[in-house]
Amino acid sequence: MPEKFKALVIDNQNEKFTRDIKEINSTDLKDGNVLVKVDYSSLNYKDALILHNGGKIVRKFPFVPGIDFSGTVVESGDDKFKKDDTVILTGFRVGEAYFGGFSQYAKVDSNFLIKMPKDIDSKKSMMLGTAGFTALLCSFAVKAKEELLLGSKVKDVLVTGATGGVGSIAVMVLSKMGYDVHAVTGKKDKDDYLKNLGAKNIIDRKEFDGESKLLEKGVWDGVVDTVGGASLTKIFAQTKPGGIVAACGNAGGIKINTNVMPFIIRGVKLWGIDSSGSSIKRRQFVWNEVVNLIDFPKVQSFTKELSFNELIETYPKLLKGEFFGRAIVNPNK
Ligand SMILES: NC(=O)c1ccc[n+]([C@@H]2O[C@H](COP(=O)([O-])OP(=O)(O)OC[C@H]3O[C@@H](n4cnc5c(N)ncnc54)[C@H](OP(=O)(O)O)[C@@H]3O)[C@@H](O)[C@H]2O)c1
Repeated sequence: MPEKFKALVIDNQNEKFTRDIKEINSTDLKDGNVLVKVDYSSLNYKDALILHNGGKIVRKFPFVPGIDFSGTVVESGDDKFKKDDTVILTGFRVGEAYFGGFSQYAKVDSNFLIKMPKDIDSKKSMMLGTAGFTALLCSFAVKAKEELLLGSKVKDVLVTGATGGVGSIAVMVLSKMGYDVHAVTGKKDKDDYLKNLGAKNIIDRKEFDGESKLLEKGVWDGVVDTVGGASLTKIFAQTKPGGIVAACGNAGGIKINTNVMPFIIRGVKLWGIDSSGSSIKRRQFVWNEVVNLIDFPKVQSFTKELSFNELIETYPKLLKGEFFGRAIVNPNK
């Protein structure tokens, strides 16, 4: 491993927030027992918040962000991993409390890593990244209505923030699972994109604005919600008896204003998704299902590969809701 390598470093000195591409030293990597040469990281909503101003998530500066990465083990202090293993990391507060993936090298706790499933590689794993992993967790939560809860068959599933990273992959996965996917978007020109991913029907985000009745006509067997905020009130009111709402995001706001009726009259289930704290077993299960549920040539078609400089230019678009699809970050570009 070289003594110095490239990383994207954020800093906050004298109330001036900066993000710079710098050479850092191997001794700067203080946490963890497995050293990884990073092949790819990816750009997620949380990364954009952190790159903007730390997002009240990062508390120590200077800091290397990047909440996920894939790469090759260089040194390992745990027998579970050996040199040249390829690995995936998402979450576990890496890129928030511990130096993350926007770097040519990263060092993390061996308990945070999983081995690359045999059917995918470093690039494919970050084309999905945290967003894709979360979309898969949400989709399996919706599917649980059939399997775990032994409910009736799932048919109509709503996905909000559908052109975003989580939303796009959720549309693809849920349609592959055989469901009719109704994609909610604020983007007027993305109907073809969403239909190509498998959406049956496109709904304008505005339809979820405004006051909701306590209960409306139940139309959704399942929901993957990446947006949060006011539209969730209407979504709960429109969920069919026994339906599952997998809520993972807050792109539209953090407050929800609802009532008990959907839950006590219709048995609607609110299933919160926290990808960062998922168990290693759950991670292994989900990543091993990727090969059955993801059409990688399609994901490639909406994935941009960014250098650190391009990442700095791109993240503001994500925060403004102007970005669609996925962005992977190549630290060697
Ligand atoms: N819980 C977890 O483990 C977890 C993991 C990953 C991500 N997340 C969260 O999931 C959300 C989506 O993440 P992402 O990486 O997919 O982000 P993203 O790529 O930026 O997608 C978010 C999408 O939400 C929609 N949107 C943006 N602003 C909105 C607004 N004001 N009102 C309504 N819709 C809006 C846009 O889609 P349209 O233009 O198509 O409407 C946008 O593309 C974020 O809140 C993120 O923090 C949570």
